[in-house]
Amino acid sequence: MKILVTGAAGFIGSHLCERLAEEGETVVGLDSYTDYYDVDRKRRHAEMLAQRGIEVIEGDINEVDLDSLLQGIDAVVHLAGQPGVRASWGSEFDHYVRANVQATQRLLEAAKGHDLRKFVQASSSSVYGDAESFPTPETALPRPVSPYGVTKLAAEHLGVLYHKAFGVPTVGLRYFTIFGPRQRPDMAFSRFIDAARAGRPIPVYGDGEQVRDFTYVSDCVAATIAAVRRGRPGGVYNIAGGTQASVNDVLGLLEELLGREVKRDEQPAMTGDARRTGADTSLAREELGYRPEVDLRRGLELQIAG
Ligand code: NAD
Ligand code: UGA
Repeated sequence: MKILVTGAAGFIGSHLCERLAEEGETVVGLDSYTDYYDVDRKRRHAEMLAQRGIEVIEGDINEVDLDSLLQGIDAVVHLAGQPGVRASWGSEFDHYVRANVQATQRLLEAAKGHDLRKFVQASSSSVYGDAESFPTPETALPRPVSPYGVTKLAAEHLGVLYHKAFGVPTVGLRYFTIFGPRQRPDMAFSRFIDAARAGRPIPVYGDGEQVRDFTYVSDCVAATIAAVRRGRPGGVYNIAGGTQASVNDVLGLLEELLGREVKRDEQPAMTGDARRTGADTSLAREELGYRPEVDLRRGLELQIAG
């Protein structure tokens, strides 16, 4: 297959492209190199991909000629977007709407005119907000608690809509807090490891008892490739690692792995943070054959080493 990956120079995108190429697929990347975090990091990811024969075209989904870009493409994996839960308030919201909602709608419109085998798009655990029950199935009522989550839910709904109305073979993947080497520098594990290495205190939001269903990046990538090959058009799946742990648990584990105590910098709880996430992944197991393989301890070891 010839697969277009949007957001190819990002954290998840760079891992996905690498793996797709290893599996013999032809990959074309697209990325606009937004300055949400260090652009040089994204350029380095693109250079690494170039060495593996993958071209990352520089362009913004909201501006490029998508019709030309989709010529000869068999499947799209749409990862491009504006991530970050806690930064999505206030005037920043404009970026979230443009990158997550408008860009997705524009790509779906263009996809209508092409006979794609699959259109897989990154959704998020943040669509659930503070879920009423755990493990949370896809059928739970989504109620985001962050503006970011609102935009990811809108984008996911657009995908389902374009399937129903125009037969675009969309599949939504609700990723749960992805970690591993090359993790975005604004995310918890990156910040924790950087601070611990530099001997700085680790910023902990609130009481540190918030829980996440952390997912190692290679499991996220395997699920995404399975969705390209076997995902049910119009379907939405939870993709999670299955190790639920609090921020305090993670810090304990980090101390154990680093062999020393870490200092904590207690910060107020952040508006927009869900108290707990925890996925029911039965649907992904059944329909995608999804089996997460890397648990929190092993994944954290790999991220520290990476
Ligand atoms: P990332 O920021 O590392 O990657 C996203 C990439 O998209 C960036 O390189 C950025 O430059 C690019 N981009 C943004 N807007 C664009 C546009 N209009 N046109 C072209 N490129 C554009 O983020 P990530 O952590 O790799 O996340 C990838 C996707 O997965 C995002 O959609 C995010 O919302 C979603 N997601 C991530 C996580 C996670 O834990 N990392 C969890 C749930 C969902
Ligand atoms: C992550 C991604 O950043 C989002 O893009 C994504 O959509 C979301 O996962 C998801 O699963 O949908 P988040 O769960 O907030 O969001 O992931 P982290 O940034 O790794 O934070 C995990 C926890 O650590 C949060 O509860 C946060 O409050 C806490 N944290 C984070 C700290 O205590 N200190 C920090 O410095 C950073």
